Amino acid sequence: MSYGALDASKSVPTQNIMNCIDAGTENCPCYLAVTGDCLVCSRLQGKHYCDCEWHGVCIYNEFIQGNRKVNNPRQDFEAKIVSKKLYKEDLVVYVLDVGKGFAMKAGRPGSYLFVKARGASGFYDIPISVMKSDVEQGYVHLAIKVISTKTKALMQEEEKLLVRGPYRNGIQGLSAILAKRKKETKTLIIAKGIGIAPGILINQALMAKDHIDMIIDTEKISDELVSDYMDDEAQSAIGTIKYMALADEEAEQVMESMMRVKGYDNVILLVSDYYIEKLGALTKRILPSANLAMSNNFHICCGEGLCGSCTVDIPGGKTIKMCKCQFHSKSSL
Ligand code: FES
Repeated sequence: MSYGALDASKSVPTQNIMNCIDAGTENCPCYLAVTGDCLVCSRLQGKHYCDCEWHGVCIYNEFIQGNRKVNNPRQDFEAKIVSKKLYKEDLVVYVLDVGKGFAMKAGRPGSYLFVKARGASGFYDIPISVMKSDVEQGYVHLAIKVISTKTKALMQEEEKLLVRGPYRNGIQGLSAILAKRKKETKTLIIAKGIGIAPGILINQALMAKDHIDMIIDTEKISDELVSDYMDDEAQSAIGTIKYMALADEEAEQVMESMMRVKGYDNVILLVSDYYIEKLGALTKRILPSANLAMSNNFHICCGEGLCGSCTVDIPGGKTIKMCKCQFHSKSSL
């Protein structure tokens, strides 16, 4: 997929076009600071001067004061399976007891966890979007589409899963949507298949303030799952929910008409790269000033900026780690 924000990086330093999602959080400085590969801090990239654009607490100072260690590294822990509901042969929802503090952190839109079966090696870690966070109970709800070895191994577990996280970068471009809040912000969420899982979490976080419309393509998932999680509270907070197959000819016309009539401030695309390109272009044509966010569909393997599976090479020979980077620009496409 082509990102316009990456092309813009030909002429400017990368830190001018993107941030690290973990910068300034409880997980900063991270492993990249230790090896001189911090995505933000020029001192922690081996330079002898500071030219970073970071406006938060100085990462270099935190690193030195913290004895040059990783701050609060994320660790695997066992989470009890509170319930396991099979919606289809290949679609299951686990409710895990992770504790209230963890559930609260995992409630941030775009959060995902690494999950694996007990006793499985690190090769089996799989990133799964948080679908719902229940802070009162200390539970998180994870929808898992069974595809291959890793997800099949997860399906065997009935008592506990090994969990690590939460990680924050499941959605690209969400920072702009979360940062600037005005009253009655109008948001459109378009989700296809398992993309509904992060969509439900966004809805949970924004429904108190935003007017939210949703377009849902339930191909490969289950209507029952959607109705279980778009409960009465969520339904009443949402303006319109439309169910449609995005591949249908008339789908684009319906979306175009909704965009023209409602004039959304935000559009969030939780779909495959094919539909991100297609619907991203539609959004930019109809709503050029809207904030656009999209699911982070890069192959995420460690989530820590270490393994390189999510990297893209950009003009100028730079490499961007998409598990950590958030673009500054209003629209990443
Ligand atoms: S997922 Fe490993 S570097 Fe991004």
